[in-house]
Amino acid sequence: MLELARTRIVLGLTGGIACYKAAELLRRLQDHGAQVDVVMTEAATHFITPTTMQALSGRPVYLDTWDARVANSMAHIDLTRGAAAVLIAPASTDFMAKLAHGLADDLLSTLCVARGEVPLLIAPAMNIEMWLHPATQRNAAQLRADGAMLLGPGAGEQACGEVGAGRMLEPDQILRAVIAHFQPKVLAGKRVLLTAGPTSEPIDPVRVITNRSSGKMGYALARAAAEAGAQVELISGPTALDVPDGVICTHVHTAAEMHQAVMAQASQADIFIAVAAVADWAVAHPSPNKLKKHADGRPPELEFIQNPDILAGVARLPNGPWCVGFAAETENLHENAQAKRLRKGVPLLVGNLVQQSMDADQTELVLFDDKGAHPIMRQPKLDAARALIRAIAQRHPITHPTP
Ligand code: CTP
Repeated sequence: MLELARTRIVLGLTGGIACYKAAELLRRLQDHGAQVDVVMTEAATHFITPTTMQALSGRPVYLDTWDARVANSMAHIDLTRGAAAVLIAPASTDFMAKLAHGLADDLLSTLCVARGEVPLLIAPAMNIEMWLHPATQRNAAQLRADGAMLLGPGAGEQACGEVGAGRMLEPDQILRAVIAHFQPKVLAGKRVLLTAGPTSEPIDPVRVITNRSSGKMGYALARAAAEAGAQVELISGPTALDVPDGVICTHVHTAAEMHQAVMAQASQADIFIAVAAVADWAVAHPSPNKLKKHADGRPPELEFIQNPDILAGVARLPNGPWCVGFAAETENLHENAQAKRLRKGVPLLVGNLVQQSMDADQTELVLFDDKGAHPIMRQPKLDAARALIRAIAQRHPITHPTP
């Protein structure tokens, strides 16, 4: 997925041990299609050489305000013209202080001040005490107030041996934040609640009834909604997936737990997207002990009870969120999906054929609403999720804040 195709990014390195991660970050940005111009402060060159960054980027690396390689010797102006963003990673304590005060005494600080409307993304990297120092916190607040976006810092073990906040985010996290930055903010300010994954209904302490849902589509939608500017709460059945950045996740096992978690949040949500493959039935009386085989070979007799229909329940709430359902069908997609949409009472239902999408990385969707069927072509689940979020944003009734 080349989300950064035709995007030129100025990657600024300042002094810090996290400079070694900037090499990987550069590669990851390029993998996603970005063209990267590297600018380094003098301090950064003590941690990684310009030669390394030049070899990886395949482009000149800029160090000096007086660099004559830029046509009119105006690197501090020309490098940001036409750039999609300036990304400072790692950003040192000193460099953040400079930026907060508008100092311009080297190429990187000068081009930041001279960048005009080009977005500034900053990934701080420093010792925990330096990060927590009131002056650094003041500078961070000032940079945010000036419109810069701070990415992290993360927390964990630090190069100095201390543990805590101040670590630079990992290259993949920074990459995802940069990609998210460029997604249209079609759900800015909206609260989105989602369910995802399978549910798992206990038979006894070691056995469960579950299904083959991987959770990939629900997690991709949670990520796409967060990228679109929404505040996202995910209620997830058991999956092996990482929770997307910025998404608050509640992990559950059974349909009853999922139902309870959703109902606790539903009235505060603007949009509810039910992606989970909720088990239709739960075992009525799970055994407290492991079931033993009968000597005569007779299989166990399990009694089932029907689980609550979470989506239909939310759709019935007075002043509830705008609801989107999913229908994973094995046949007659159109008839089954439209019937399901009406039965559940939801304005939008997303249909797909199980054999084409379950546990796969790609999916082909058809949206069903009161105007009919609208196909979304086969593509990776994250791209399909972004297309679906745009479709939801177009259909979701615009709510005006009450005066
Ligand atoms: N759903 C739900 N709670 C349930 C069952 C389903 O919230 N107990 C939601 C799913 O998350 C999905 C939609 O309802 O958004 C349709 O799920 P599906 O399993 O396809 O439909 P069912 O209602 O279970 O109908 P059937 O199994 O008869 O096709």
